[in-house]
Amino acid sequence: MGYNTWYQFRTGITESVVLRQAELLVSSGLAAAGYTCVNLDDGWMATERDPNGELAGDAAKFPHGIGWLAEQIHALGLRFGLYTAIGTRTCQSLPASWDHYDQDARTFAAWGVDFVKVDDCGGLPQGTTVAALTEHFREFGDCLRRHNPRVVYSQELPIHQIGKPSFRAAVQASAQSAHMWRVAHDENPLSREYAYPMILGHLAADLDLHPFAGPGHWNDLDMVAPNFPASGWTLADLRTQLSVWAMEASPLLISADIGALPPEALAALKNPHLIAIDQSGEQCSTVIMQGDIEALMKPDPDGGTAVLFVNLGTGEATGHFALSQLGIASARASAHDVWTGETTALSAVSVTLAAGQTLLLHIKGH
Ligand code: GLA
Repeated sequence: MGYNTWYQFRTGITESVVLRQAELLVSSGLAAAGYTCVNLDDGWMATERDPNGELAGDAAKFPHGIGWLAEQIHALGLRFGLYTAIGTRTCQSLPASWDHYDQDARTFAAWGVDFVKVDDCGGLPQGTTVAALTEHFREFGDCLRRHNPRVVYSQELPIHQIGKPSFRAAVQASAQSAHMWRVAHDENPLSREYAYPMILGHLAADLDLHPFAGPGHWNDLDMVAPNFPASGWTLADLRTQLSVWAMEASPLLISADIGALPPEALAALKNPHLIAIDQSGEQCSTVIMQGDIEALMKPDPDGGTAVLFVNLGTGEATGHFALSQLGIASARASAHDVWTGETTALSAVSVTLAAGQTLLLHIKGH
């Protein structure tokens, strides 16, 4: 859990921008809720390597250097992350790590980098096969761990295989070498209309990847609250995104201006029950349908079942579920709405939802 600069600041990141977001993470209570890793995405590096061939920060944006910034972030009690790419250039055509995996891993360790995201775009030699790329990602991970055994390794190996027969093998390879790997395209939260297809698209696309998720290795659906609220997403969109991410146990990396988050959005991101479901240690693997209503389930860390109901249809729909279908053995249960905080006693669950609407319940037998 943490923060990523990309959807809010793109390549406009500077030392003061990053420090302000880090300070806001602490003062807003997000850090105390678990969002502790501050990750610089693309755009931090100078346009060329330095005369010694080392990756260097852009001196105009980061006048005190990247190592200094890492120290400041650490002094706030936070962890520090950086971005690079597996080829010669990042997605923004800045220098990346091709042919420099060991050297850059050493540099990152010397700077005190706790988290490294490795993208898969830019400047790969013509004809690089998926097998070769997989091997490069594995090798880079080995280098990163050699120089810092505690590093968190995030990678994008599977992204370009989405929709191809090679996708599952890429996820499997990532799961063997990284702590998290992107299984979804960039959200690019440019319009509100895009929110629901993007968020709910994950349900169909990623559910069967649950065997790869577990403590220390996670399917990564991309960042949360991307550019919120400037993106035009509503609070309901954000809650839906967080609900899906929690059921799929995806890392939660906020990519917004924390100073601009309305109190309800901050509360949603800090919701302890939502975070507990996300961090429960497993991705949901059970799904049942009642008409247009889909119910996704996984054990809730407080006992019973966490259930996300989603209306996948185009109009209002109702679903009726027996408690036994939701993994509850008793005849009666309490259902706690993770977002409203309301608790209801019931002996079966009936939900009526508008198209695209979701409901996240913690159901516990008694
Ligand atoms: C790719 C990645 C994004 C972001 C950008 C930066 O598109 O998928 O998450 O890192 O590159 O250029």
